[in-house]
Amino acid sequence: MSNEQIKNLEEIFEARIARDEKIEPKDWMPEKYRKTHIRQMSQHAHSEIVGMLPEGNWISRAPSLRRKAALLAKVQDEAGHGLYLYSACETLGISRDELFEQLHSGKAKYSSIFNYPTVTWADMGAIGWLVDGAAIINQVPLCNTSFGPYARAMVRVCKEESFHQRQGFEIMLKLCNGSPEQKDMAQDALNRWWWPSLMMLGPTDAESIHTEQSMKWKLKRKSNDELRQQFIDQTVPQADILGLTIPDPDLKFNEETGSYDFGEIDWDEFWQVVKGHGPSNKKRMKDRIGAWEEGTWVRDAAMAYAEKQDARNTKLKTA
Ligand code: 3HC
Repeated sequence: MSNEQIKNLEEIFEARIARDEKIEPKDWMPEKYRKTHIRQMSQHAHSEIVGMLPEGNWISRAPSLRRKAALLAKVQDEAGHGLYLYSACETLGISRDELFEQLHSGKAKYSSIFNYPTVTWADMGAIGWLVDGAAIINQVPLCNTSFGPYARAMVRVCKEESFHQRQGFEIMLKLCNGSPEQKDMAQDALNRWWWPSLMMLGPTDAESIHTEQSMKWKLKRKSNDELRQQFIDQTVPQADILGLTIPDPDLKFNEETGSYDFGEIDWDEFWQVVKGHGPSNKKRMKDRIGAWEEGTWVRDAAMAYAEKQDARNTKLKTA
C-alpha cells in the first residue's frame, strides 16, 4: 500500500474517532491503535484472572454460607470478565495461547493491586469496597471507549462490579458494627489497602506514557489523576459512614476545588510492585501457573469432546 493510501486511511480513521464512531475488529485501524488495545485489554484480562487468586483463598474460610456464596459469585464473575476481555483481544489477531504465554512468562503486566497479601477476612471487604470501587471508576468510562468489543465487554463488567463493590462494603459495615476486635480488623485492612488502591489507577498524568495518545484515540476518556481524584472523593464519605479513618494525615476537604487534597503516594513502592518485587508477586504467579498446569486435563478433555462432536456432525451431514 502506498504512503498516500495509508495517509488517506489514517484521515478516514481519525474522522471516525472524532465522530465517536465505534471501531470494529474488521475495520481498518493504525497498527499502533491495534497494539495499544492488545496491550491494555490483555493486561486488563490478566488482572481479572490473577485477581481471583487472593479472593479464592478465602472462599473456604468465609464466616457464613451467605458470605461464601457472595464471594464465590464474585470470583466466578471475575473469571467471566477475563474471558470477555481475552475474547475481545483475540478479535485483534492475537491468540489466547499467546496471551497466556505472555502472562505466565512475566512478559505481560497485570494490576499491581493483586500483589498484596489478604491476611484477614476484612481484606475481602476492603478489596470489594476499595479495589472494585476503584475498578468501577476506571471501567465506567471504558464503556464508551472507541473499540467496539472493549466498550461492549465493559457494559456487562460494570454491572457486575457494582455488586462486587456493594458486597465488599457490606462486609466492612458488618465488621464495623461488630465487636471492637472486628472493627480493628476492618481498620487494619483499610490501612493496608488504601494506598495500593490509589496506585492501581496508574502513575500520575505527568508520568503516564500512554495517556495522551490513549485519550486522542478515545481509548481513555479520563486521565489517571482524574480517576484517582474521583475515587478518593467518592470513598472518603463512605469511610466516614463506616467510622473508619483513612490512613492519610494530609487528607483534607478543599472547599475551593470541592475535592479532597491528599498526601504523597509512594511511587517507588508502586514501580517496585509493577516490576515484580511486591509482597505477593511470586506467589500469585506460582499459583496462577500451578492452576493452569493442573487444569491441562480439563482443557484436553473439552477439546477432545469438541473434536468428537465435530466429527460426528460432519458424518451426519455427509450421510
Ligand atoms: N499495575 C500494573 N501496571 C500498571 C498499572 C498498575 N496499576 N498502572 C499502570 N501500569 C503500567 C502500564 O501498563 C504501562 O506499562 P506498559 O507500557 O508496559 O503497559 C505503564 O505502567 C505506564 O502507565 P500508563 O498510565 O501510561 O498506562 P495506561 O495508559 O495503560 O493506564 C491503566 C493504566 C489506568 C491501568 C489503564 O491501563 C486501564 O485503564 N486499564 C483498564 C482497567 C484495568 O486494567 N484495571 C486493572 C484492574 S482489573 C480490575 O479492576 C478487576 C476488578 O474486578 C477488581
